[in-house]
Amino acid sequence: MHFHLLTIFPEFFVSPLMVSLIKKAQDKGIVSCTVHDLRDYAAGAHRSTDDSPYGGSQGMVMKPEPIVNALEQICAPLVDPWRILLSPQGVPLSQEKVRTLATKETLILVCGRYEGVDERVRAFVDEEISIGDYVLNGGEAAGLVVIDAVSRLVPGFVGRKESTEEESFSDGLLEYPQYTRPEEFRGMRVPEVLLSGHHAEITRWRRRQSLLRTQKRRPDLLAQANLNEEERGWLAQKSDEK
Ligand code: 6GU
Repeated sequence: MHFHLLTIFPEFFVSPLMVSLIKKAQDKGIVSCTVHDLRDYAAGAHRSTDDSPYGGSQGMVMKPEPIVNALEQICAPLVDPWRILLSPQGVPLSQEKVRTLATKETLILVCGRYEGVDERVRAFVDEEISIGDYVLNGGEAAGLVVIDAVSRLVPGFVGRKESTEEESFSDGLLEYPQYTRPEEFRGMRVPEVLLSGHHAEITRWRRRQSLLRTQKRRPDLLAQANLNEEERGWLAQKSDEK
């Protein structure tokens, strides 16, 4: 998986891409990240990448030429690059979207600044993505979110296959509670079933904890999740008890 980031703040990406699993994945050659400075594609003595908006108002708008020049030059040698504009006006990122993006060979991530990019840039990208309903100063942090979520689905990125599959959202449910040593911490004990060694019971307990937790915290997710009759019945009974 190849990621290309287009940004006016290339320094933003230096340390986040140089630690932990994303660093290891790059060293292994599973993932590559190339950061492009939009200034390098800007014309004029000042090589400016933004300008004041037509019609007036506060703030600056990103000029179309540097972004489109960069997209064209970077994409020219690539096979089927998928171009994404990161902006608060995009389609909200979801795990389903992440799975789709992970099937691409090359993602081009254009980091827009909050005030916006010239509207005509939108004709040169394949889609526009937002990472949620809140305001960021620019698309840089969103670009990192996309890289983080997508790269961990690349085969070989996470050690064990189960560790990506079992986690929250893969099956539309929140994850069950996890514990490690000690057996008792500040008066709180690890649930007895987890110490029992009964694998079938542990699996059932975890599934039910996932269901309960999702019902309590994210009923919106539960409505979409794949539950069987027995599970729906058990949950309904549980909520009647309260
Ligand atoms: Cl992708 N960009 C900005 N500037 N703000 C955001 C966002 C992106 N997603 C949520 N808020």
